[in-house]
Amino acid sequence: MSSIDYTDKIPNNVDLSQDKALQRALEHWQPNYLQWWRDLGPEGSQSFDVYLRTAVSVDPQGWAQFGYVKMPEYRWGIFLNPREEGRQVNFGEHKGEAAWQDVPGEHRANLRRIIVTQGDTEPASVEQQRHLGLTAPSQYDLRNLFQVNVEEGRHLWAMVYLLHKHFGRDGREEADAMLQRHSGDADHPRILGAFNEKTPDWLSFYMFTYFTDRDGKFQLCALAESGFDPLARTTKFMLTEEAHHMFVGESGVSRVIARTCEVMNQLRTDDPAKVRAAGVIDLGTIQRYLNFHFSVTIDLFGADESSNAAIFYNAGLKGRFEETKRDDDHRLQGRTYKVLAVQDGQLVEREVSMLNALNEVLRDDFIKDSIAGVNRWNKVIEKAGLPFRLVAPHKAFNRKIGTLAGVRVSPDGRVVSEAEWAAHERQWLPGAEDRAFVASLMGRVVEPGKFANWIAPPVMGINRQPVDFEYVRFN
Ligand SMILES: [Fe+2]
Ligand SMILES: [Fe+2]
Repeated sequence: MSSIDYTDKIPNNVDLSQDKALQRALEHWQPNYLQWWRDLGPEGSQSFDVYLRTAVSVDPQGWAQFGYVKMPEYRWGIFLNPREEGRQVNFGEHKGEAAWQDVPGEHRANLRRIIVTQGDTEPASVEQQRHLGLTAPSQYDLRNLFQVNVEEGRHLWAMVYLLHKHFGRDGREEADAMLQRHSGDADHPRILGAFNEKTPDWLSFYMFTYFTDRDGKFQLCALAESGFDPLARTTKFMLTEEAHHMFVGESGVSRVIARTCEVMNQLRTDDPAKVRAAGVIDLGTIQRYLNFHFSVTIDLFGADESSNAAIFYNAGLKGRFEETKRDDDHRLQGRTYKVLAVQDGQLVEREVSMLNALNEVLRDDFIKDSIAGVNRWNKVIEKAGLPFRLVAPHKAFNRKIGTLAGVRVSPDGRVVSEAEWAAHERQWLPGAEDRAFVASLMGRVVEPGKFANWIAPPVMGINRQPVDFEYVRFN
């Protein structure tokens, strides 16, 4: 069951060849996907041989095989975790019923919406990152970027498979629309805000993979609890890929910090102008990037109070993070949760129905997980003997969605006037000048084992290869 059939045009472990109509439909979608990859996938890199991992089985051991692949020839396919005998719906009003192998009619529209919203983010990030290969700080980093990109492409395949298999004609139309909306497109944008932002430079890329791919992790974890078993099984396998994306982000930011600290110590300065003059990114700029990506990403969890979130949970479609590890009734009727509101110019907590606050519950879990990594970054600064510390901003800072949208809140959580915001925005969020400076550092480094001046080499290579391994062969 878990081994993957690579003799099919579409690699899969779902016995695709047994369902001719489905196979034909997906084979019809496949060339459109490849055309999209050529048009909007990584720019100028179609002929490179890239040292990539490809899934060979969904078993925890040895699911990946490494080798040189030209990206358009990557074996994108459909991989589900094995079916768990006797699995049940573990939360909501259907708790205790057998998990669904087919879409329950009453929940069809909501499930489709959940799958489309998740699916749309996958190609969006590939589009957002498509220019980055032109300014990669090393071969190692270039390879990691491409690995993330091909896996996001596969995540799209995962969602498209569910749409094709379980949603008939509507599903096929939704699958086509995934290739028609584009990140930042004025007429046909991607569904969620953060996925229409640009990822213009590598610091943004690392922040994106740290924060926004982590949003992916939490969304996928919530879907991995779904009573709709095919969705649970496919998201479980996606999660094993997601871990590497977050690693790229965390280690990337960490290496930027390490290099900056090294230069600060060499020059014995904390003057951002001098740090910048030495060609590395000052810690203040890193903090502003962090503030931006953190705040934009937590908006992805949606409004703090949401009747949809309650419906999705009650219906058994989308659970909480680690639902089955939680020690409660998994129905949550009558339970409450605290969300933020503004009262008399101050942030206050309000108790609301937990079912309506499940977006906030997931956001808070995300924040906890994110802050753990920020603390690990601070260890790098601490080890360098410098007093600066990075801080995750308050969750009310720079919000565009929910009760806090439009309220001006400082990174330390004070409601501020429009005038105070305007006076400090430049210290709190990356400005045009920060972005221009970071952009000025971006240059292509192609020689194996060489790294751009603004980033430290990684501690080790990929798949136990040396750091100076030839991760990409430019043809
Ligand atoms: Fe993804
Ligand atoms: Fe990802």
